[in-house]
Amino acid sequence: MSEHAIPTTTLGADGPEVGVQGLGCMGMSFAYGPADADASRSALERALERGVTLFDTADAYGAGDNERFLAPFLAAHRDEVLIATKFALSIPPDDPTRRIVRNDPPYIRQAVEASLRRLDVDVIDLYYMHRRDVNVPIEESVGVMAELVREGKVKQLGLSEVTAGELRAAHAVHPIAAVQSEWSLFSRDIEAAVVPAARELGVTLVPYSPLGRGFLTGSFTDAAKDLTQDDFRRTMPRFTGDNAAANAALLEPVRTVAEQHGATPAQVALAWVHQQASVHGLPVVPIPGTRSPSRVDENTAATRITLTEADLNLLDPIADKVTGTRYADMSFTSAGRE
Ligand SMILES: NC(=O)c1ccc[n+]([C@@H]2O[C@H](COP(=O)([O-])OP(=O)(O)OC[C@H]3O[C@@H](n4cnc5c(N)ncnc54)[C@H](OP(=O)(O)O)[C@@H]3O)[C@@H](O)[C@H]2O)c1
Repeated sequence: MSEHAIPTTTLGADGPEVGVQGLGCMGMSFAYGPADADASRSALERALERGVTLFDTADAYGAGDNERFLAPFLAAHRDEVLIATKFALSIPPDDPTRRIVRNDPPYIRQAVEASLRRLDVDVIDLYYMHRRDVNVPIEESVGVMAELVREGKVKQLGLSEVTAGELRAAHAVHPIAAVQSEWSLFSRDIEAAVVPAARELGVTLVPYSPLGRGFLTGSFTDAAKDLTQDDFRRTMPRFTGDNAAANAALLEPVRTVAEQHGATPAQVALAWVHQQASVHGLPVVPIPGTRSPSRVDENTAATRITLTEADLNLLDPIADKVTGTRYADMSFTSAGRE
């Protein structure tokens, strides 16, 4: 591990220790336009050198492609890394473009076996329910997930985009180590109920899209104009048309704070998420996604930035001014059910 290794924190009330920043691997196979496999492999290795230990994927990322892509990296470093994957977004055989949310026990059992096979591992370190199927009681789904722990197929359990009530009900069945939800300068809805519940229960918060899917870095301003046809961000209300123009203007304070710290806007966006650990009093492990080793260096270096109260006063008001929801269909999120 390099001299610039990031600090560590705990994943769930009983550990294990984990690098305080993880790596989101989704874009290496899915959603954000063409990826260079060699660069992605270098990004994985660089992240490990920098002390990143939590690597995030899901069975739905490229219909299993992302898990398969990670298998050789895991084989080479099995004892050094924690692999997190997810189930719940099933792909109907007659239409590979659709996703159906499934939390029923037979589906979970089938999904875990498929993930273990694709990742080519004996055990999944952190297994998340990716989305809630409200037709299945959460106690029933988490009951099956707990059986997977007892059977040695999974080490820890996580939930993604759950409400505070769903988290409490699940935690009563089996300890939940992590909640993964969107949390960034642009997306702060979980602070109302989910974050306080996680703190109370000893659950680690794993913010996804901490860079606002790249928008907070200034690397694109209008998804419809700047991104490729197949890029998922073209479907997101915040990133196109009038919303995109209005939201791009909100990045001015991010640039101002970045200049003051000799940092990049991406680093300020990440430093803000990291700082929420002390603001809210719970472990926070954001998982920025990148396919570039130099961006891994840039993003992990953000763990060394401490924002001042004046910085926070400039940055905190941004979220309330964002126009457009974070998904086209908000029932897909905890905020849509909270
Ligand atoms: N649970 C869920 O429902 C859910 C939903 C979405 C995502 N996730 C997970 O969370 C991870 C992260 O979220 P995300 O990928 O959606 O969004 P993100 O981390 O906010 O942003 C990723 C985007 O930012 C770019 N980027 C990264 N570092 C940069 C830098 N320093 N400067 C400029 N651009 C930079 C990346 O491009 P390059 O790759 O080209 O660097 C990519 O386009 C995903 O990989 C996935 O594992 C989970």
